[in-house]
Amino acid sequence: MSLHPVTLTINQQIFQCTVNGSMTLLELLRDELHFTGVKDGCAEGDCGACTVIYNGAAVKSCLILAAQADGAEIISIEGLSSPDGELHPIQSAFIQSGAVQCGYCTPGMVLVTKALLDANPNPTYREIQTALSGNLCRCTGYAKIFKAVQLAATLIKDSQAIHAPVEIISHD
Ligand code: FES
Ligand code: FES
Repeated sequence: MSLHPVTLTINQQIFQCTVNGSMTLLELLRDELHFTGVKDGCAEGDCGACTVIYNGAAVKSCLILAAQADGAEIISIEGLSSPDGELHPIQSAFIQSGAVQCGYCTPGMVLVTKALLDANPNPTYREIQTALSGNLCRCTGYAKIFKAVQLAATLIKDSQAIHAPVEIISHD
């Protein structure tokens, strides 16, 4: 079995590991490094439960070999809340919208939403549906999830407005 050294940045922390050639990124993150928010729903690319943000894009970690991920920057759901435990606005929006039931799909849904809103802060309903089309949910019927994404976009815009520097206009 071939072994490969891999260095990854996960949630802004650097990890150096040795992986075998057949190990998936999902297996590395979940089984070896214990990021258990990365869910294993099918391990075949069908459900989206294993989604992480990988070099800025939402990807299904079961479809990437760990050895290919050398040098990658990864965000898992564990990296989304602030260090003091305050939820990210997307997480708050999912809760407020009733978009979390069993929760198994939720980390993947939230991370796809983050990648979407980072790239497109004002997605249309159709763009939200398209972005989440690779993520399955057996509980919610999707409508509440799509509403949560709309609410998340609003919450993020509101928080950016609150934190925007105040422009001082001089009348001299
Ligand atoms: S576990 Fe990766 S898509 Fe289902
Ligand atoms: S909330 Fe249960 S699978 Fe989506």
